[in-house]
Amino acid sequence: MRVILLGPPGAGKGTQARQLAARWGVPQIATGDMLRDAVAAGTALGRQAKQHMDAGELVPDAVIIGLVAERLAQPDARTGFVLDGFPRTVVQAEALDRLADGHGLSLDRVVLFEIDDGELVRRLTGRRVCRACGRNYHVVFSPPARADRCDACDGTLYQRSDDEEDTVRRRLSVYARDTRPLIEYYRRRGLLETIPGAGPVEQVFDDLLRVTGSGR
Ligand code: AP5
Repeated sequence: MRVILLGPPGAGKGTQARQLAARWGVPQIATGDMLRDAVAAGTALGRQAKQHMDAGELVPDAVIIGLVAERLAQPDARTGFVLDGFPRTVVQAEALDRLADGHGLSLDRVVLFEIDDGELVRRLTGRRVCRACGRNYHVVFSPPARADRCDACDGTLYQRSDDEEDTVRRRLSVYARDTRPLIEYYRRRGLLETIPGAGPVEQVFDDLLRVTGSGR
């Protein structure tokens, strides 16, 4: 399966993409995670991306498209992938179409998570992330067993620099302006499925499996 998870910041794309990719044995390709790795490693890409990310703005299309093109060319992406956070603009979606054509691949589904802004702000401002394995927690909705430690690997939990409330609101308006047009883009191609993003994680996963035709 080749699937795109589409939705605003905090909709649960990362949480669900990780489970879906593990279930299908395909890579989760998360541009936000790739950029944060580059920032942590202090690469030229990371230095360029950081200023945009901290401001809640998008990293320039050309940079992101180059990153995804390299990733999709790796052998593990031949069997399928779950795209999480890409594409985010019409320019990126058009580039993905060209990349897929170039590899002789086609997209199977685009799944949109619908959820209101108030819930997104609550989720993002309470999110904590494991520095070692990337697992997400929430201080109220899914707290770790021990404060600031990951249940899975005992890594340290941290708050993302773009999860401060002002930056979250900026990210939501960037989503409305730049990413929402993709809903129509994929609807016209007959690829779009919409699921509610606000229920419990397990319920959202069930819906995701249903609309991707892979059932429990
Ligand atoms: P990125 O990392 O992709 O951030 P995002 O799209 O803003 O998405 P998030 O990771 O914030 O949310 P999510 O939908 O994955 O939700 P999650 O599962 O974590 O991008 C960061 C930045 O990188 C961008 O702002 C931009 O600068 C740059 N960038 C990345 N890709 C780019 C691109 N293609 N082009 C240009 N720039 C790009 O869940 C959120 C919280 O909610 C967690 O605490 C989680 O535990 C909790 N939660 C999840 N599901 C549920 C549920 N069902 N019930 C209750 N709580 C839940």
